[in-house]
Amino acid sequence: MRNRTSRLSGFYKLDHDERLAEVQAVAGLDDATVEALRNSSALPFELLDRLVENAIGGFTVPVGIATNMIVDGRDVLIPMATEESSVIAAVGNTARQCRDTGGFTTSISGTEMIAQIQMVKLTDPWAARAKILEKKAEIAEICDGCDPILVKLGGGFRDLEVRIIDGQTGPMVVVHIIVDTKDAMGANAVNTMAETLAPSLAGWTGGQHHLRILSNLADRRVARARAVWRAADIGGADVVEGIVMAADFADCDPYRAATHNKGIMNGVSALTLATGNDTRAIEAGAHAFAARTGRYRSLSRYEITAEGDLTGSIELPMALGLVGGATKVHPTAQACLKILGVKSAAELSRIAAAVGLAQNFGALKALATVGIQQGHMTLHAQNVAIAVGAAGDEIAEVARRLAETHTVRQDVAEQILAEIRARK
Ligand code: MEV
Repeated sequence: MRNRTSRLSGFYKLDHDERLAEVQAVAGLDDATVEALRNSSALPFELLDRLVENAIGGFTVPVGIATNMIVDGRDVLIPMATEESSVIAAVGNTARQCRDTGGFTTSISGTEMIAQIQMVKLTDPWAARAKILEKKAEIAEICDGCDPILVKLGGGFRDLEVRIIDGQTGPMVVVHIIVDTKDAMGANAVNTMAETLAPSLAGWTGGQHHLRILSNLADRRVARARAVWRAADIGGADVVEGIVMAADFADCDPYRAATHNKGIMNGVSALTLATGNDTRAIEAGAHAFAARTGRYRSLSRYEITAEGDLTGSIELPMALGLVGGATKVHPTAQACLKILGVKSAAELSRIAAAVGLAQNFGALKALATVGIQQGHMTLHAQNVAIAVGAAGDEIAEVARRLAETHTVRQDVAEQILAEIRARK
């Protein structure tokens, strides 16, 4: 093992073998670990190295299909990339339970992104605001000039907002340019526009432009979904009432809301990742939106219909794209988009909202009835069985016996495995 330093000058210039050798020397890896890294991705190394810097391998997350989903009258197979067990099965189960009522109905507010330009060192922020608003036509021209292809596709600059914020460092004028990015997530398009426009804003106002970057609070790209579950299909009036009370808890208490919304994002992020989109952007947007009233709240609502059934609805920002980034170059993302059969980013976003609601219903139903562990237990038990070295038929037997003991622990699994092997 070489001296442990992270100062690997010129690491980016090395080829795959050279990078692995360098990491092996510094981190003191054995040959088997290096081989595992070398063979960690089915994707060609050139692609990995194009997607990120200093690539040394890949990290495979399973992709599974959630079945039974009907979205806006269409049966859709939902590809989900996640490392968490039970997530995909929960969406399929939930979707089955609302097929008879037509599945999920969705809508979206638009496909507009916001880019922010922070203007500072202004003596007269209100006058600056007025001057900027007077220039709307010129601003539209500058922004659209940055991306003629987007304009040709029907997108481009749509609107302008100028806010004044009293910061600790003084008043700042924050300019929002609102751009329809159509089928792109739009980060590159709006960031370029913001950077190009900023010097003109400084010239018109006498202030200084500072940050120029999109906002992940994509609240002009809000996707919505709703569904009805018949009381008779989900275990009766008590279950309906139980889910409504569970949702109320999340809406009233940020500690619960964080977990409730995490469950929603189990579905949304899995679809986001499967389609090569930016999971962090979607998550940041969702959580900021959940706090838009000044208190962190639930992203979903549950009510009892006039017929005594359960209706759930959800609304959250969904800046998903079909073009650009990993979506276009990652073969698995391309395959997942084909499986979904979506024709626009708006359609994908609407499906994502439906998946979020499905996931959320599944979690709430389990929590409000048998508890989450019962469902998780079998899959978790299988993972523990594999972790202690069970193979082939042993896995199912160790998992079953572990679940029966209600103590899904590694030491118990080891003991069961030893017993099975002693029997052979
Ligand atoms: C686990 O990944 C997600 C849940 O905690 C969500 C929830 O509590 O609503 C089950």
